[in-house]
Amino acid sequence: MKDHQTINGAVHHDLKHDSAIKHVTGRAEYTDDIGEPAGTLHAYLGVSTVAHANIKGMDLTAVRNAPGVVDVLTADDIPGVNDVSPTGRHDEPVFPTEKVEFHGQPIFAVVAETRDAARRAAELAKVDYEILPHALDPVAAKEADYPHVTDPLTLKRGDVEEGRKTATNRIKAQMTVGGQDHMYLEGHIAFAIPGEDDDVIVHCSTQHPSEAQHMVAHVLGVPSNAVIVNVRRMGGGFGGKESQMNLFCAVASVAAKKLNCPVKIRPDRDQDMTATGKRHDFVIDYDVAFDDDGRIQAVEGEFAARCGWTSDLSGPVTDRALFHADNAYFYPHVLLNSRPMKTNTVSNTAFRGFGGPQGVVVAERMMEEIGYALGKDPLEIRKANFYGETDRNITPYHQTVEDNVIGRVVEELEESSDYQARRKAILEHNAKGGILRKGISLTPVKFGISFTATWYNQAGSLVHVYNDGSIHLNHGGTEMGQGLNTKVAQVVADAFQVDFDRIKITKTTTEKVPNTSATAASSGSDLNGMAALDAAEQIKARLVKFASEKWGVSESEVRFLPNNVQIGAETIAFDDFIKQAYMARVHLSAAGFYKTPKIHWDRASGTGRPFYYYAYGASCSEVTIDTLTGEYRVDRTDILHDVGRSLNPILDKGQVEGAFIQGMGWLTTEELWWDDKGQLRTHAPSTYKIPLASDRPRVFNVDLADWSENREMTIKRSKAVGEPPFMLGISVFEALSMAVASVNDYSECPRLEAPATPERVLMAVERLKGKG
Ligand code: MTE
Ligand code: HPA
Ligand code: MOS
Repeated sequence: MKDHQTINGAVHHDLKHDSAIKHVTGRAEYTDDIGEPAGTLHAYLGVSTVAHANIKGMDLTAVRNAPGVVDVLTADDIPGVNDVSPTGRHDEPVFPTEKVEFHGQPIFAVVAETRDAARRAAELAKVDYEILPHALDPVAAKEADYPHVTDPLTLKRGDVEEGRKTATNRIKAQMTVGGQDHMYLEGHIAFAIPGEDDDVIVHCSTQHPSEAQHMVAHVLGVPSNAVIVNVRRMGGGFGGKESQMNLFCAVASVAAKKLNCPVKIRPDRDQDMTATGKRHDFVIDYDVAFDDDGRIQAVEGEFAARCGWTSDLSGPVTDRALFHADNAYFYPHVLLNSRPMKTNTVSNTAFRGFGGPQGVVVAERMMEEIGYALGKDPLEIRKANFYGETDRNITPYHQTVEDNVIGRVVEELEESSDYQARRKAILEHNAKGGILRKGISLTPVKFGISFTATWYNQAGSLVHVYNDGSIHLNHGGTEMGQGLNTKVAQVVADAFQVDFDRIKITKTTTEKVPNTSATAASSGSDLNGMAALDAAEQIKARLVKFASEKWGVSESEVRFLPNNVQIGAETIAFDDFIKQAYMARVHLSAAGFYKTPKIHWDRASGTGRPFYYYAYGASCSEVTIDTLTGEYRVDRTDILHDVGRSLNPILDKGQVEGAFIQGMGWLTTEELWWDDKGQLRTHAPSTYKIPLASDRPRVFNVDLADWSENREMTIKRSKAVGEPPFMLGISVFEALSMAVASVNDYSECPRLEAPATPERVLMAVERLKGKG
């Protein structure tokens, strides 16, 4: 009999990612590693070479005649509905029939014996286009009177006109905030294996297997029960695989069913970057009125986003931008409008933070504006505007902030990072007027947790205990590197009080848990952790009843101890106990379910409680810029982030670090650039720069707020962690802004555009020097 004091891998303890060793040794199995049955064919997309045109004719003869080509699929080959739009707006054909709406749009697919053959053949299409005028960005779209791609949102509280009357200062300006490519290590991929009748099994890399299942069914014209979608893991998703895999799954399935062969589709990196959506870039007009102490009285904002040619998730993304335009600040009077603009570019999609970062960055810009206007440290302005804990706590969407800890987080970070002394030293350094200038900034984050589409906040699980005492765990969430499977397995291990390695983590499949939501909105462990706990509790309840009846003790005398079960005075090893329960015909399997309580949201009136709770954090970054070249480096970053009672502190720290770096990349070096023909020129890592290991802060201190506990009844009182720390990267952006401002003695807000590439930093320095 094993006798441990505690189990291995208990909740709230550090435990490495269950696949960590497999990731780094190359033994983790991704979709492309699955053995290909004999006869597997390979598909590749043929794409549009213009941004906007009527298709007058398509000559695919050369494509069909190319070596190795088996078939060419167009819209005519789709047996069901030619649509993969995730929100049911029916505005996203798999292949267009009449016109193309962006440069790089998939218009057909080649199926060939090898991927190389398919890819070469796809280049040979002759398409007769009647060119139409195009609008590439939100400003051009507005000028061309393009429609909103989905319904805009208004959030309103108080009366901005009234608010302005009490304010002594007012600033109106515009900010542009760039988009971002997901740059997951593993790109899009789908592998469809046809079965008998209508059946098809699709292995793919999606955050949303149930949606892929429904889309494939819809495109094939078969019921959902004919389609199985499997995902063991993704090599990163970051939101880019929430909806964007639908097309690849549909194409592979249509080809597989038509040809009755397994078909795999995997675009190369260039096509992955040009044909699939990215973070929305925004042009934001802000108008802030404030008093002489820097306290905001009124905020008005208009958030225009480049949504691309279809709605995709642009509605909820632009909504979330408005939900986060307050960040951690109280706006007494506020009016916010979203402008989800249709453009002739790839349809933008979910990306870590889901529009939230684009809202937060403007709130932070306003803090800077006020700081420079009043000649004060922007941190002072931030603190003066924080939500109150008991008053000044109503958001622009009328939800009361009940769990505010931003004051404490910022206070502790200010202390631990030695902010005040370092800022003083930096001011002195800059006053000497050298070529290298420094900046420091401390910025807060408050991020709302829950899908704003309320019905998405549900999850299911399936847990089996086999009669040898080993446990099979399945849930609706997907693993993309974030450690969701590890955390959920910890929850189940904790429930049964067995060692973590007794739990088998299994692939996500629509066969075991139906109608799941995307693993997104950072809610994977909140939702699936609870659903798995529900299943475990059901089985435990049956076990407790069995033990109490068999041993003749009360139910309260049955306790799950580490790897053992205590029944009255007797202690039995867990596996022996399970064997006995099996022999007594106890049902050892359960389906669990969870739905988030308390949330509701009325989009029409812009009121409700869309978020169950908020996650908080703050970061302080110090940078040095070279005023002759615009180059810069991050000297130091300190972070304090709130994850409630962490399910697994080391995984959460990894999420905080990774999110910070990704957020920093978004605001510094990652620049998407389309030429005037609408062709994305930053189409590969050769032209698109994500942060490297060498770009990380030279000193990087990351801490979790160990005193925090979710006041809501979340899984083990933890908080979601996936997205909120992304916005900690804003401290780097604002520190750069301060370094730039120094060349003109901080007399004006530099209004850096994002991303603040070295070129932009240099241009801002030159502009301010000219005025100095
Ligand atoms: N971490 C890794 N390593 N890879 C990813 O793709 N995606 C992020 C975040 N962290 C991602 C990641 C995004 S966009 C979200 S919404 C969450 O993880 C989703 O997982 P969770 O809900 O389990 O936190
Ligand atoms: N966040 C992330 N993904 C989503 C959301 C959201 O709020 N709504 C729909 N998909
Ligand atoms: Mo994350 S953008 O919600 O997938």
